[in-house]
Amino acid sequence: MKKLPLLGDITPAQFLRDYWHKKPLLIRNAIPGFKPLLSLDALAKLAATNHAESRLVTGFDGQWSLQHGPLAELPPRDKQQWTMLVQGVNLFDAKADALLRQFRFLPDARLDDLMISFATDGGGVGPHFDSYDVFLLQAQGQRRWRIGKQKDLTLIDGLPLKILANFEPEEDLVLNPGDMLYLPPQYAHDGIAIGDCQTYSIGFRLPSYQELGEGFLQFMADSIDLPGRYEDPDLKATDKPAEIPRQMLTDLADELNKVRFTEEDITIFLGEYLSEPKHNVFFTGPAKPLTVGKFGEAVMKKGLVLSRKTQMLYRGKNVFINGESFGVGKADKATLELLANNRRLEPEEFAAASDDVLEALYTWYQDGWAELG
Ligand code: SIN
Ligand code: CO
Repeated sequence: MKKLPLLGDITPAQFLRDYWHKKPLLIRNAIPGFKPLLSLDALAKLAATNHAESRLVTGFDGQWSLQHGPLAELPPRDKQQWTMLVQGVNLFDAKADALLRQFRFLPDARLDDLMISFATDGGGVGPHFDSYDVFLLQAQGQRRWRIGKQKDLTLIDGLPLKILANFEPEEDLVLNPGDMLYLPPQYAHDGIAIGDCQTYSIGFRLPSYQELGEGFLQFMADSIDLPGRYEDPDLKATDKPAEIPRQMLTDLADELNKVRFTEEDITIFLGEYLSEPKHNVFFTGPAKPLTVGKFGEAVMKKGLVLSRKTQMLYRGKNVFINGESFGVGKADKATLELLANNRRLEPEEFAAASDDVLEALYTWYQDGWAELG
């Protein structure tokens, strides 16, 4: 694989082998001349709505405070030590989406979102660790990062933020616009703004086994099939009526042990789970949708693109989109894989689509999951 400008002078394969999940990497000038993609006003407007998740963290007078959005008002710009953080900016802005997609040398199943923070001088969220990998791209001004690999991840009790009780930084780095720092999960860090500062965090998702396990069992509840009902033709009279009969227990255990989790079950669960839109994501279809015939003609001219908010994944013959799954045949699979990987379908690729695919694409277009290219 070619070198990726984002990663400096190493290839994605070298990055994954030597740094990913292992150790930090500072890339000076990862994006030369990088400037904020959104104005501060646009970011503050987003933070004021309830579509985007936002937070305001202040450290006024040595006291940490955290406020969850929507943020109707921000502290004055000339006041030091405050940070506004906006999650999932990629869902709202095409340039932010394009930046996040530059990290698609990593699977969509792992890529999460682009968070943007704006801080005034001295602002930061304190020494902490994240449970996820992160790329911290400096977008405006400077930020001083102190980082360390410490094992002691004890947090200070009673604070509104997760702050490490015993932060022991090992490196001290000042990032300029365009510089990017990769940190593996659980790596201690503290970023402090030097003057007005914007940092873009490209975040990843690492669901816990507990979360996946609970989700899987809920999913299986909808699909297990255990016909029949407990029967006891040989029941004997009892002088301990409150005791649950042993036979009832063993019979149920035998029945439950018939439930088997196949790889297909796990695939479908995982695909639906990973493609499920977040709770604050809503789709809007076109106000005046074309008829299916006109839609086909339009795609033949312009192609089709997935909406920024759409998560489309596949594995084997299963295709997943926004929490839904379906099995497809070989020819349809080829078309839908192109759409999932490129997030767009060219007119000539669409020409090969079966009626089933056309019908699915038309529904996604009506629901706002896909748009004319
Ligand atoms: C920030 O951008 O202020 C915080 C990012 C982080 O430490 O994860
Ligand atoms: Co962090």
